[in-house]
Amino acid sequence: MTKQPPTPPASPGPAFRHGFTRHWPGYFEAVVGKGPRETAVRALDAFAREGIPAEGQEPPLAVDLGCGEGRDTAEMLKRGWRVVAIDGTESAFEYFARREGLLEHPNLETRLEPFETCSIPVCRYLNASYSLPFCRPEAFDALWKVIRSAIEPGGRFAGQFFGERDTWASIPDRSHHTRLRVEKLLLGLDVEYFKEDESDSVDAEGQDKHWHVFHVVARRPE
Ligand SMILES: C[S@@+](CC[C@H](N)C(=O)[O-])C[C@H]1O[C@@H](n2cnc3c(N)ncnc32)[C@H](O)[C@@H]1O
Repeated sequence: MTKQPPTPPASPGPAFRHGFTRHWPGYFEAVVGKGPRETAVRALDAFAREGIPAEGQEPPLAVDLGCGEGRDTAEMLKRGWRVVAIDGTESAFEYFARREGLLEHPNLETRLEPFETCSIPVCRYLNASYSLPFCRPEAFDALWKVIRSAIEPGGRFAGQFFGERDTWASIPDRSHHTRLRVEKLLLGLDVEYFKEDESDSVDAEGQDKHWHVFHVVARRPE
């Protein structure tokens, strides 16, 4: 059956509207300057408990996939990681300039690449906050395979998957998953944090949206 996109509300707020329409510069403007996502903080804290990054050693590599305006990238760099920040929207990196010292940070590399064809370097930490649902569905499995093989033994994945009951699940170019499917995607990883959130809630601007989100932190065994 062909998926039909849902009708947006009559007067949606900016973050809702931009996520709905993929108008990313508008999304960046709506969220600019916010702090790191909870899943990123959980993963970085878990590494810190393991002594990573280690003082006096080469910084480990993190990839921020769908980095947006840099909220997680900034935190990783602050904590001593080297970061490859990947996004398919050029203006994401213009927004990096709004965060002091970010764009010129010596441990940052930015890459303008779409998820559907991007290459991902081998890394200790793969972060994908609220970005994977925007990979086109026909490319999702290949992307997930690339992500899984890019993460070093002992490394982590952190990020979100959107569920099938989310308001945006019926938009044809989105990748949403059932809980069972998310569990299958994570097979072979040690899942350290898994939270299924389902609520009639609001976005950053107070616009109603039904959220169905899986928040995940998972570690690849040694
Ligand atoms: C909802 S935003 C999340 C941004 C950031 N990680 C955060 O947590 O705020 C989704 C991000 O994915 C990027 N994106 C969406 N579809 C993409 C695609 N097909 N290829 C590459 N980047 C994409 C957008 O440019 C945007 O920065």
